[in-house]
Amino acid sequence: MSVIRIQGVRSLEGEIGIQGSKNAVLPVMAASLLHNGTIVIKNVPQIQDVFCMMEILEALGCECQLKQHELLIDTRRLRESQVPVRLGKQMRSSIMLLGPLLGRFHKAKTCYPGGCVIGRRPIDLHLLALRQLGADIDCEGEQITVRADKLQGTDLRLSFPSVGATENALMAAAAAKGVTRIYGAAREPEIEVLCRFLEAMGVRIDGIGGSLLTVHGGERLQDVEFRVPGDRIVAGTYLGALMVAGGELCLLGAPTDHMAGTLTALRQAGCLCKLYPDRIYARMKERPQPMDLSTGPYPEFPTDLQSVMLAVASVAQGRSRIRETVFEERFATAGELKKMGADISVEEGTAYVTGGYPLAGGEVCAADLRGGAALVTAGLASEGESRIHGYFHISRGYEDICRDLSAVGAAISLKED
Ligand code: EPZ
Repeated sequence: MSVIRIQGVRSLEGEIGIQGSKNAVLPVMAASLLHNGTIVIKNVPQIQDVFCMMEILEALGCECQLKQHELLIDTRRLRESQVPVRLGKQMRSSIMLLGPLLGRFHKAKTCYPGGCVIGRRPIDLHLLALRQLGADIDCEGEQITVRADKLQGTDLRLSFPSVGATENALMAAAAAKGVTRIYGAAREPEIEVLCRFLEAMGVRIDGIGGSLLTVHGGERLQDVEFRVPGDRIVAGTYLGALMVAGGELCLLGAPTDHMAGTLTALRQAGCLCKLYPDRIYARMKERPQPMDLSTGPYPEFPTDLQSVMLAVASVAQGRSRIRETVFEERFATAGELKKMGADISVEEGTAYVTGGYPLAGGEVCAADLRGGAALVTAGLASEGESRIHGYFHISRGYEDICRDLSAVGAAISLKED
């Protein structure tokens, strides 16, 4: 099995090119099924979840070709509407195929999705939206079957601004006859990207960027070329790495216009950031200041950076408080960080962290994607060697975290154990 080995403590200096956004490209790949033609997506990250989504699209009959960071999807031989269980179980995004397959075939079948174990992660909001658009839903054990002779535009109200449910609703609404208003839509940047992609294919959408999205469905769609933005969570991860290691970094391709909430919190913790439209210059001269932050739906601080901020708080000059309000079980990494010497206690959805420096290298295991990134971050601020197992989790969302960090001075490598 692959193990990440890190020799702390070394400062970072140099440039990192930020990969394309995982959480933007996956719904765009799913939405491609709405069109009978060819789609080219640029700035596609070479990550496990993209490879898995490509396998699913190919199993459904599409042709997928990824050359460097450019992906061609040809849906003209799409013929299946059932997502293979083996693949559907590998990631949360498989649930997002229901909307486009329903739009294309008036039926779809998948399994309850896999993905990071960070909470119960129900899919009730997804299914409610599809039902309100006219679908019959049948859940039997792990199997979910949806059918709709006709999808009809309507008013949808999401009781929580679920990113995935908003995406599924958008894709089904694009195929529905008439107008669909989605009240309480998620406002994450990835929603805006999906809306722009649907618009490029020929769907008219009003209110993009807001919590009321109005979709004019049923239009003929067209071939498109589309570029996804840089990954705001990967950029935030590398800023966290800088904050624990010290030094200075330039993050090329960072989507600074999508990172206001993140950058406010990092600046408060002492990270000096200079922003340009497509890059961030950041400097960290001393240990981080303690922080008091709470995750929340966009534009609040992103839950996907909560684990990394646990690692940053573990070396801060004082006591921090980090509250998780999106996923009820997203503190699993605290246990692994404590093996590295972090002083963390978790009570009722809030982590209390007393910073110390340096941490102590150790043998730890990633339990989920962003938790794995947090362990790498902590390893950069640990005396001696840290060995991080569970690389598969990390590879789902980071193209090559060892390549990126070793290029700016970290002593980090991936070894077969
Ligand atoms: C997306 O997950 C992202 N994944 C997650 O990133 C991200 O953490 C999350 O949005 C929030 O920003 C992808 O885009 C592939 P949600 P998603 O539906 O769509 C509850 C990463 O590390 N909920 O907004 O699953 C749910 O339980 C991953 O890249 C329902 O109750 O997130 C959670 O508490 C992790 N019913 C909250 O909403 C539903 O039907 C937010 O979930 C759906 C969700």
